[in-house]
Amino acid sequence: MQSKELNHFQCKCYLVACEQTRRALIIDPERTHVDRYIGMLAYDGLQLQAIVDTHTHADHLSGSDLLHALTGAPVMMHDSAPSPRVARHVRDGDVIEVGRGSLKVLHTPGHTPDSVSLFGDGRVFTGDVLLIGGTGRADFAGGDAGQQYDSITQKLFALPDETLVFPAHDYRGNTVSTIGDEKRHNPRLGGRSRREYIDLMASIEFPLLDKIQEVLQPNQTAIDDDEMKFPSLAQLNEVRQLNPRDVHANRESKAPPVLVDVREADEFHGDLGHIPGSQLIPLKDLPAHIEELRPHAADHIVLVCRSGVRSTTAAAILTAMGFSEVSNLKGGMLAWNQLKLPVER
Ligand SMILES: [Fe+2]
Repeated sequence: MQSKELNHFQCKCYLVACEQTRRALIIDPERTHVDRYIGMLAYDGLQLQAIVDTHTHADHLSGSDLLHALTGAPVMMHDSAPSPRVARHVRDGDVIEVGRGSLKVLHTPGHTPDSVSLFGDGRVFTGDVLLIGGTGRADFAGGDAGQQYDSITQKLFALPDETLVFPAHDYRGNTVSTIGDEKRHNPRLGGRSRREYIDLMASIEFPLLDKIQEVLQPNQTAIDDDEMKFPSLAQLNEVRQLNPRDVHANRESKAPPVLVDVREADEFHGDLGHIPGSQLIPLKDLPAHIEELRPHAADHIVLVCRSGVRSTTAAAILTAMGFSEVSNLKGGMLAWNQLKLPVER
């Protein structure tokens, strides 16, 4: 396999290709550069086999949907990724084929819960978990410095020392490193214990990202529509989160909540199923269907989705529209299924 970086900027996108079959994979495409990627594929005579986002990005709009629409190649992300536009959810140990070659999926959470690294043919694409001489920030929602330390020290540093490291970002003009060099020289990690690493990450004042919700929520929801008014971070933080057991207990009480599932129809009837009695209103259709929910404006409404991210957006929208008792199913249908609570398909 051969690989090259396509953006030539701080934010990295990689093309991985099998020379024999001319089949290729694109990792972390950026929306603004999709025409460049299409041109590059055509110039090199490559057929796009798959698109992978290493995680839900907060700093740029993902180009995955557009690239999928233009090429038909499926989008792959970790099982916990919130986006509805993922054709294949991957887990730790899964293999993604690229022609006759392949990349192994390593689940490396910490920067985000859905972060994966891809390892194969002497190289590893580390997303924003391990950077060259640094590590990705762990202060966004779902970030966890302790998990990040474990991902790096137990999974990435277990790879052969000579493995080439290709991160999703670099701010200093580096293009490649090795696992051995990062083990020896990465200043964030160098000899630190897990506790020391967590304390270090907590002490760093990362810059606030401009318009983070304007980027994050389209990436989380696959809604890229100027009509959609996404809630602010403050509104999202105010959403009451109910764990699955509490929602299940509420369902069996004398005053069961109104359950509104905001996924797409194929997900509602897909592998994870849906909670019996829930009603389907995909998030992108929610603003147009608010009036249907008006009779329940004073009732307890619980919003449901795959991982609990899109439904938090939906809950904040309903609250802003004057619904008085709105909650979110924390962890979504992934958490519901893990507890083997009842589902219909
Ligand atoms: Fe990131």
